[in-house]
Amino acid sequence: MPTTALPPGPTGSWLGGSIRQFRDRRLDFFLDVAREYGELASFRFGPRQIFLVSDPNLIEQVLVTDAKHYIKHFGARAYMPVLGNGLVTSEGEFWLRQRRLSQPAFLKQRVLSYAPLMADLTTRMLEHWKSGSDVDVHFEFSTLTSAIALKTLFDLDDPGDRDRFTVTLRLAFDLMSDRFRRLIKLPSWLPTASNRKLKAAVKELHAVVDGFIAAGQARKEPGNDLLSRLVAARDEDGKQMSASQLRDEMMTLYLAGHETTALTLSWSWYLISQHPEVEEKLVAEWNGVLAGRTPTAEDLTKLPYTDAVLTEAMRVYPPVYLIGREATQDLELGGYRVKKGYTVFMSQWVNHRDPRYFPNPEKFLPERWEDGLAKRIPKYAYYPFGGGQRVCIGNTFALMEAVIILAAVGQKFRFTVMPDARIDVNPQITLLPAHGIPATLISRR
Ligand code: HEM
Repeated sequence: MPTTALPPGPTGSWLGGSIRQFRDRRLDFFLDVAREYGELASFRFGPRQIFLVSDPNLIEQVLVTDAKHYIKHFGARAYMPVLGNGLVTSEGEFWLRQRRLSQPAFLKQRVLSYAPLMADLTTRMLEHWKSGSDVDVHFEFSTLTSAIALKTLFDLDDPGDRDRFTVTLRLAFDLMSDRFRRLIKLPSWLPTASNRKLKAAVKELHAVVDGFIAAGQARKEPGNDLLSRLVAARDEDGKQMSASQLRDEMMTLYLAGHETTALTLSWSWYLISQHPEVEEKLVAEWNGVLAGRTPTAEDLTKLPYTDAVLTEAMRVYPPVYLIGREATQDLELGGYRVKKGYTVFMSQWVNHRDPRYFPNPEKFLPERWEDGLAKRIPKYAYYPFGGGQRVCIGNTFALMEAVIILAAVGQKFRFTVMPDARIDVNPQITLLPAHGIPATLISRR
């Protein structure tokens, strides 16, 4: 019988619980709680009871064994006004049907067919780069992965259309984030000034995306883009996705896909710029395998060190640093009772810094992955893409994109991070660099 007591943890204030400590210290708050109270700890955010789980086996229990008794946590659901009922936010039978319809578009062979397009857009970006110019590394890679996402999702390359989409999306997101920051939230149906603005921005966004979808549907020959695949997808009963469902899925894929990959590249380049010995080995691998060529799908398995660098960068700076679930019934976890409605947090930031599996965890050391570390550690000691039935659908896509871009960029340029730059993390939905990553581009020639 599980005990009805709560796992150990900070008590915080009687009203807010630990919300202030979390706001002040963010990632360090999770690390401190895990280190001080152990692999199953608990605290409160206001009225919400939270468990923080960092035992890899218990994480597996939540994400895999008991997955059907959990739904996404309150934070993930909060993005529904913009993301609608897409793969990230939907639940139950509805989610399962959507996942089954979308899955074929992410099969390895399909994903590999995007390699030339990723390489081509990267080459086009590099043609505009000039040695000696100052850039924000994060801005450059966000722009590139956004262009790749819009081309692979909608077959869209008109820069005007791209701008219209990104500007309206940003506006809708800013308005929504603003709403979440407010202490007192009035219901979204009340016609307050900010609710009206949000409604108008979402309406505009939907109109833009509906336009892309209509253009895709009007094409005589279906393209090699994800939209064409989702338009053609049928479930066992022969049913297709509705127009609004297509829209929710396309926006979800765009949002879930491009920023996370941009962050992987940005943090990788930051770390590489601080570790010349790693850069030297990378360049040697690229010279040996690619000799100046842009990488193709066939090259991907021949670049193990490039792979190790990306794996290690996602360990040190996991783009998604926290995932959460809410129990839909009373459950057992590590001898404790998780009551219906409780939230369970799992933090990659905490697990990826566990010295039992990653000795000297703060050190960026791609070599630690070289002799099969991934197979020796428990599965949920390292999980940048989550796990279980809701594992990232785009993981193969993301890894391929990151390898191609890293090698294509790195053969032509290196980055010198500005000596006075302050590089801090800003944990939002993803792990952003707080002040960007300002650097100077230096041509390798
Ligand atoms: C390095 C890049 C990426 C990282 C680190 C990442 C990470 C994650 C994680 C941790 C989850 C699980 C969240 C949870 O369990 O609550 C997830 C889900 C998801 N990701 Fe990714 N992701 C990346 C790239 C992509 C790409 C490129 C796409 C699409 C093209 C994508 C689409 C999705 C979708 C649709 C889901 C929800 C899946 C579901 O619930 O069925 N992601 N991602």
